Amino acid sequence: MHREIADGVYYVGVDDHHTKLFENLWALPHGVSYNSYLIIDEKVTLIETVKEPWAEEWLDNIREIIDPAKIDYIVLNHMEPDHTGALPHIAEIAKNATMIYTSKAAPMQKSFYDVDLEDKTVEDLEELSIGKRTLKFVHAPFLHWPETMVTYLVEDEIVFSCDAFGSFGALNGKHFDDEIDMRMIEKESRRYISAIITSYLRFVQRAIKKVKELGIGIKMIAPSHGPIYRKDPMWVINHYDQWSSDELDKHVTIVYGSMYGFNQRVALLLKKELIELGLEVRIHNLSYTEMSQVIVDSVRAGVLVVGTPTYDAHPFPRVWNFVNEVCGKRFPKRPIFLFGNYGWGGGGVRKLKAQLEDSRYEVMEPVLKVKARPTDEDKMQIKKLAKVIMGQLPN
Ligand SMILES: Cc1cc2nc3c(=O)[nH]c(=O)nc-3n(C[C@H](O)[C@H](O)[C@H](O)COP(=O)(O)O)c2cc1C
Ligand SMILES: [Fe+2]
Ligand SMILES: [Fe+2]
Repeated sequence: MHREIADGVYYVGVDDHHTKLFENLWALPHGVSYNSYLIIDEKVTLIETVKEPWAEEWLDNIREIIDPAKIDYIVLNHMEPDHTGALPHIAEIAKNATMIYTSKAAPMQKSFYDVDLEDKTVEDLEELSIGKRTLKFVHAPFLHWPETMVTYLVEDEIVFSCDAFGSFGALNGKHFDDEIDMRMIEKESRRYISAIITSYLRFVQRAIKKVKELGIGIKMIAPSHGPIYRKDPMWVINHYDQWSSDELDKHVTIVYGSMYGFNQRVALLLKKELIELGLEVRIHNLSYTEMSQVIVDSVRAGVLVVGTPTYDAHPFPRVWNFVNEVCGKRFPKRPIFLFGNYGWGGGGVRKLKAQLEDSRYEVMEPVLKVKARPTDEDKMQIKKLAKVIMGQLPN
């Protein structure tokens, strides 16, 4: 199924209801779309391909409009295989097409696929006439990879933004922001940016600034995942701006693991004390909440509290996994508190502290260590800890 989104500009992407985990990591309860666009002018231009298993469906979408052998340009904004997996399939058909990408994308293409097509590397802000229309290429490094760019269709004022401004959630024929359930998209785009782009939030800020400075008109933002914004392109720009800004939120997030409930008792006692102090608290048991949702609720927390039982002299695996995400995704710096629960020698919380400090996070005192069931003395310490946490929240 295709859809004309502007005069001579077509959506030819596909919905994926099959992949359970995006990047084999992140849950897709509403599926995901791989968007691809076709521009018919004197030259025929394809923007992006799709993930490899959807190649046939995607080629059929193109065939509804034009013989794919007539494609002149294949714009590859980003080399990740969710956008390029089907490249070898189109390369077999559109033998005269030229791939257009940045100089950093060229060697990636070679190592991923090595297709037998002409190519053209484009500089930042370079323009290319395709007939009545012009494409302008704007380099956008680290949105999502180093080679990434954004393509602007000058006359129609459409930004093909690839991963930037994307969202999880399949489209089901509702391609535009004024057609789709935006409550679902608000949740899914936030989960998407948190799971995929948290390591590169400052590049989101840089890209938004760059686009604002270019002063170009934007009638539509057409990303490569999720809906096309035509009613309100600023909605997604403002949300991305807010979600990637340096400013932290005023809530406390407690993230913990627990095997038999002892550590959970500490977590819940701390939650109660914080609520009684009038603070907003989010809390996640890492064995139950999917990791991308935990990241959404913790990446901007003014104070982060992590609690682990000791498991074979190490942190509980799921807690350790979360702390790996904090360090790997380069969560913005903020006070981090730790609590641990143990049966005999302990050690879990010590290893978490060492890892966080190794990544230059400040682990605040006191680090609470509770031996199984919290005693009255432990409860006093938890009450005190809540007050220290309150003092660390941004105003
Ligand atoms: C599989 C397993 C391994 C454990 N390994 C250790 C350990 O190496 N050192 C230690 O001090 N306690 C260890 N414990 C004890 C727990 O850390 C302790 O009982 C703690 O209170 C558990 O909290 P939880 O019920 O919230 O998981 C282990 C417990 C289990 C079930
Ligand atoms: Fe990507
Ligand atoms: Fe992507």
